[in-house]
Amino acid sequence: MTISPRDKNAPRDIDAPAIIAAKPDVTKPNTKKVFIKTYGCQMNVYDSERMADVLAPIGYAPTEEPDHADLVILNTCHIREKAAEKVYSELGRIRQYKEKNKPDMKVAVAGCVAQAEGAEIMSRAPVVDMVLGPQTYHKLPEMIAKVHRGTGDLLETEFDTLEKFDQLPELRQPKGFSSFLTIQEGCDKFCTFCVVPYTRGAEVSRPVAQVVAEARQLAKHGVREITLIGQNVNAYNGVGEDGNQWTLGQLIRHVALIGGIDRIRFTTSHPRDMDDDLIETLGSEPKLMPYLHLPIQAGSNKILSAMNRDHTYDHYKNLIAKIRAARPDIALSGDFIVGFPGETETDFQQTMKCVEEIGYGSSFSFKYSVRPGTPGAGLPRQVPEDIKQDRLVRLQALLYKQQHDFNLSLVGKTLDVLVEGRGRKNGQLFGRSPYLQGTHFDGPESLIGQIVKVKMTDAGRNSLIGDWVE
Ligand code: 5AD
Ligand code: SF4
Repeated sequence: MTISPRDKNAPRDIDAPAIIAAKPDVTKPNTKKVFIKTYGCQMNVYDSERMADVLAPIGYAPTEEPDHADLVILNTCHIREKAAEKVYSELGRIRQYKEKNKPDMKVAVAGCVAQAEGAEIMSRAPVVDMVLGPQTYHKLPEMIAKVHRGTGDLLETEFDTLEKFDQLPELRQPKGFSSFLTIQEGCDKFCTFCVVPYTRGAEVSRPVAQVVAEARQLAKHGVREITLIGQNVNAYNGVGEDGNQWTLGQLIRHVALIGGIDRIRFTTSHPRDMDDDLIETLGSEPKLMPYLHLPIQAGSNKILSAMNRDHTYDHYKNLIAKIRAARPDIALSGDFIVGFPGETETDFQQTMKCVEEIGYGSSFSFKYSVRPGTPGAGLPRQVPEDIKQDRLVRLQALLYKQQHDFNLSLVGKTLDVLVEGRGRKNGQLFGRSPYLQGTHFDGPESLIGQIVKVKMTDAGRNSLIGDWVE
């Protein structure tokens, strides 16, 4: 069966690679195979790993071959219309394969499309055996049992984030040296274009002790870099070890104490929740990488207000000045939407001005996509597709130039690179710089898993090339 590969040009935060998660805990011999395909954000990547962790004790081993799978899980994304459409075409391919070659294959749809369109999926795609919203993955074994019994409810879309985390197995066997760790889920911001508050529910923070226990597990399994993730990560307010609610800054400083964890990142932040403590932590915590993803979405105050962003351009600009004062080497990344309803050419020019004034090392930019059920969908003065397209092309020309220029500015510099694995060419290794660029260089395989110094010799828009120094 050909399950379509991910779009290589798609942005990292919303179209992460299909993940075949951790090696299973062999509490039961692995007799079955599960193929998990991940769409969307880092949280889906994390969730896919956790689904594999839940399935391991009941005998499912991950496979990268969908053809051999007894269970196929599509972990879906609903953020834009295209992302959701992909799921239905994938299900069409799976149905054909299943009917012809593997009638006993079971199919599950998980993630945000499952949450938003669960009942519709069940009726539109009979190939689907079960549907699970993002807060119900701990129920997978129970759901699989129901499918095999042929009885019971096969649609699970309850919201109980804390129950999910309480029930997920403690054991994690990460794949590499860099791992995501969910510390917060859901969003209370209700930007008028966004489905997340509806698909992921209200903001919930995991308790500090749980986060630390998981980080320790990861470190024990060789992970050296942790990215703390949440839809609105800097609104983190989990219960700390002293019984008080902790901020993200406090949590980061605590996680930084864990031996073996050498690098910490966090994403995605909202400008409204970027407090002074976090900014100071960015300046003072050496394990925190000099890279910050801080979406603004648009430069015009009129559009920001229509988007219900709860900040102006000046607020954002002042924030960036403060952050740069605290951490002068920081590289910024942002998300941008063009063609939000009511956006005129003058408004769009404000977005261009914002990009010119702020300067981004990387970015993700999108045409506004109408999401049924969000307030934006009902707004007048929707922008025609050709205008959206034209604005996106102009914006990306500027953003991509900034990104390439930023990468070129690193040529000649020696940076720490966490070596993740082999590169594409023989003898080549691949790793990530502190600024998250993929970095290629020649070196022995014994360096995999280490943080090494690499002197940069060349730079493309998306990656760096260098020489191993030590
Ligand atoms: N249309 C286009 N882009 C969107 N995003 C979220 N919702 C939409 C939408 N309806 C973008 C935002 C967000 C990123 C994850 O996806 O820029 O920050
Ligand atoms: Fe969506 Fe806005 Fe929440 Fe981000 S802050 S997840 S864009 S509603």
